[in-house]
Amino acid sequence: MAGPFADKEIVLGVTGSIAAYKACEIASRLVEGGARVTAVLTKNAQQFVGPASFEAITGRRTITGMFERLETPEIEHISLARRANLFLIAPATANSIAKAAHGIADDWLSTTLLATRAPVLFAPAMNTHMYQHAATQANIQTLKARGCYFVGPGSGALACGEIGEGRLIDPPAILEAANILLCEKKDLAGKKVLITSGATHEPLDPVRFIGNRSSGKMGRMLALEALRRGASVTVVSGPAHVPLPYDAAVINVKTAQEMLEAVKERFAEADIFIAAAAVADYRIDNPAEEKHKRNGEALTLSLTPNPDIAAYAGIQKRPGQITVGFAAETHDLIAYAEEKLAKKNLDMIVANQVGGENCAFGSDTAWAWLLTPGNPPEQLHLIAKEELTGRIFDAVAALL
Ligand SMILES: Cc1cc2nc3c(=O)[nH]c(=O)nc-3n(C[C@H](O)[C@H](O)[C@H](O)COP(=O)(O)O)c2cc1C
Repeated sequence: MAGPFADKEIVLGVTGSIAAYKACEIASRLVEGGARVTAVLTKNAQQFVGPASFEAITGRRTITGMFERLETPEIEHISLARRANLFLIAPATANSIAKAAHGIADDWLSTTLLATRAPVLFAPAMNTHMYQHAATQANIQTLKARGCYFVGPGSGALACGEIGEGRLIDPPAILEAANILLCEKKDLAGKKVLITSGATHEPLDPVRFIGNRSSGKMGRMLALEALRRGASVTVVSGPAHVPLPYDAAVINVKTAQEMLEAVKERFAEADIFIAAAAVADYRIDNPAEEKHKRNGEALTLSLTPNPDIAAYAGIQKRPGQITVGFAAETHDLIAYAEEKLAKKNLDMIVANQVGGENCAFGSDTAWAWLLTPGNPPEQLHLIAKEELTGRIFDAVAALL
C-alpha cells in the first residue's frame, strides 16, 4: 500500500490518559498511510477506550493483557518487538514514561519496550504539574539519553481545567515525527538546510498588501523531507496556509526585505540553501502609515524592486555550499529557468509550470523539471510534491 507509512509495522501503545481517545485518530491515520498497526492498551487505558475501536481501525486484534491467549504466534510479544519498525506510545502517561525509564516490565507494553530494538517515540500527555515534576523530567532525560524520541507535549487548556504544558500534541505532529523516524535514508545527517517558504506580503498601508498565491506547501514538504533524511532544518517563512514541520526551526517574516535579513543571518552556516518562497519582485514605495481612504479617484502605486534572495545566495555561496532555486512560470519555462540558473549562480533550479488545475500554487502536484549546470533538463512530468521533494534531495545529495 502506498503512503508515508507504506509497509511499516507499527506498535501503537495507548496508556491511561484522558487523551487516549485521540489514539483512535492516530491509528486511523497510520493505517491510511499504509502502516500495519498493532494497538496495545494498558489496563488503565481500557478505562478510557476499548479494544473494539482499535480492532475495527487496524483490522488486527488489540493486545490488552500479558497473559491473554494468543490467536497467532505472530503477535507474541518478542516476535512483534522484533518485527516492529516503530513503537509509538501515544498518549504516554507519566507512569508509562517512568516505567520505561526504570526498565519496569509489569505489563505487555512495558515488557515489550525492553525487548524491542525499534525506535521508540513517546507523545506525553498529562497535567502540567505532573509533566514539570522533577521525577518526570528526569525520566524523560533518561529515555532521551538512551535514544528514545519525544514529540510534544503541547500547551493549552488541559482536561483538569489548568492551562499549560502537558496536552497531547496534535495528532498531525505525532504522525510527522513518526514519518521522520521511519525514513531509512539518512543521507543528509549532520547537514544544515535553510529553506525560504511561502509568500511575501508587501504593505500598501497598515491593512493592505500586495501578495501572491503561494500556499507554503512546497516549503513544508521540502522541510519535512530534509528532516526525514536526517538534516537539521530552518525555514524562513513568509505568510503561508500550511503549518511547517514541528521539528523545523521557523522564523516568520512578512516582507521580502525581512526575508533577506533573516536569510543573511543564517546563510553562512547552511550546507544547503533552498529558495522556495514566492518572493514579490516589487514592493510599494513609501507605504502609507494610515489606512488609505477610498475617495473615488484613481490611485497610482509606485513600485520599487525587491532584493533578489536567490541571487544573494549565488553571490555569497562558499565552496561546497549548495544553492537551489525555483522558477514558476506560465510560459517559456525552461528557457527562463536556464537563464535564472546561470544568472544567479545556482547549483540547481526546480522549474514548475504555473497554470492548469494541477500546477504549482496551492496544488499537491507539480509539472516539474530539474536543471543543473551543463546538463539537459530532467523532466519529472506531473509529480506529487512529496515525490518531487524526494527527487530534489536525491539530486542535492549527489551534488554534495
Ligand atoms: C480521569 C483520569 C484521567 C487521567 N489522565 C491522565 C493523563 O492524561 N496523564 C497521566 O499521566 N495520567 C493520567 N491519569 C492517571 C493514570 O491513569 C494513572 O497514573 C495510571 O496508573 C496510568 O497507567 P498506565 O500508564 O499503565 O496506563 C488519569 C487518571 C484519571 C482517573
